[in-house]
Amino acid sequence: MVQTQDFIPSSYSQTSDSGQFTWSAPSNIALVKYWGKKANQIPANPSVSFTLSHCKTITTLAFEKKQNDGNFSFDLLFEGKPKEDFKPKIQKFLERVEPYLPFLKDYHFTIDTQNTFPHSSGIASSASGMAALAVNFMSLERLLNPEMTEEYFCQKASFLARLGSGSACRSVKGKVVVWGAHANTETSSDLFGVEFPKDIHPNFNNYQDTILLVDKGEKQVSSTVGHDLMHDHPFAEKRFAQAHQNLDKISEVLHNGNLEEFVKIVESEALTLHAMMMTSMPYFILMKPNTLEIINKIWKFRSETKIPVCFTLDAGANVHVLYPEQTKEQVLAFIESELAMHCQNNQYIVDQMGFGAELIAH
Ligand code: PMV
Repeated sequence: MVQTQDFIPSSYSQTSDSGQFTWSAPSNIALVKYWGKKANQIPANPSVSFTLSHCKTITTLAFEKKQNDGNFSFDLLFEGKPKEDFKPKIQKFLERVEPYLPFLKDYHFTIDTQNTFPHSSGIASSASGMAALAVNFMSLERLLNPEMTEEYFCQKASFLARLGSGSACRSVKGKVVVWGAHANTETSSDLFGVEFPKDIHPNFNNYQDTILLVDKGEKQVSSTVGHDLMHDHPFAEKRFAQAHQNLDKISEVLHNGNLEEFVKIVESEALTLHAMMMTSMPYFILMKPNTLEIINKIWKFRSETKIPVCFTLDAGANVHVLYPEQTKEQVLAFIESELAMHCQNNQYIVDQMGFGAELIAH
């Protein structure tokens, strides 16, 4: 079993003075949700997600050797312009990953990052952002250690991304990623995400995710606070056990293509996540009236058309509408005519299952 120590390099055979990489990394949408964590970003329960395709962060990491004066040195640009308010998060990330990337203080970095989705759309950019940063640092480590295997590269990139933001570890690979030790998912680990190990039924090929932007405002509850509230939560243990069971069930479904079951598990997971927030102390309601309007309309549409379209939610009011590729035309027409009106400025993003991080330039 791979352990944390396996990601601490002993020495490097090569050196590099300067250079740059550009990687893109996608967002992901959890089907079985991660909510609650232990120390060092270890999840309280396993989760599984679809990797997305169009919602991405694109990050260029330029590096230049400097004197190691015991400090991290980096500039942070967002869409080409300095962005001071993102710096503390990056500083914290560098501190957390330094034991695994011991060269970090030997370089000055310029990190230039941009998202393909609208700024402040309420879509979490931390997953794609941290994943994009992690793969860039792994590219630099691979320069210093060219013998590195592809497997190690991906596992460690996911491991590092996890230290930035838990769900980011599911954004390195595609199409379906499991994160968190799960008895019936071989190779699963609390330390990094792994590709779903069984064959995926063709019903899920290019599965669609249309993200309805119901509320683009600042998050009411940061996920850090949300995860923490699971510590003294009266239903925590039951919830964690349920996530293991739901992962068993959805693994079957992903393999056998039973979309009716898929809908049940996915919607129940979304509502359970929100139920956990509603029953924590303090308690929160992150859904908005428009979230509920949308859910009710999806249920009505599904019962009338028998199209297996369903919803899921993250820790916010936006709704992810999930449906098979061959129903795209009908579902998009329904979204445009019935659901767009419940979105801020009628905005939504049409996305689908994708393949993970991509090296764009080096
Ligand atoms: O990665 P974090 O710490 O932002 O947590 C995200 C948790 C959810 O998005 C609500 C669920 C999930 O599994 O992605």
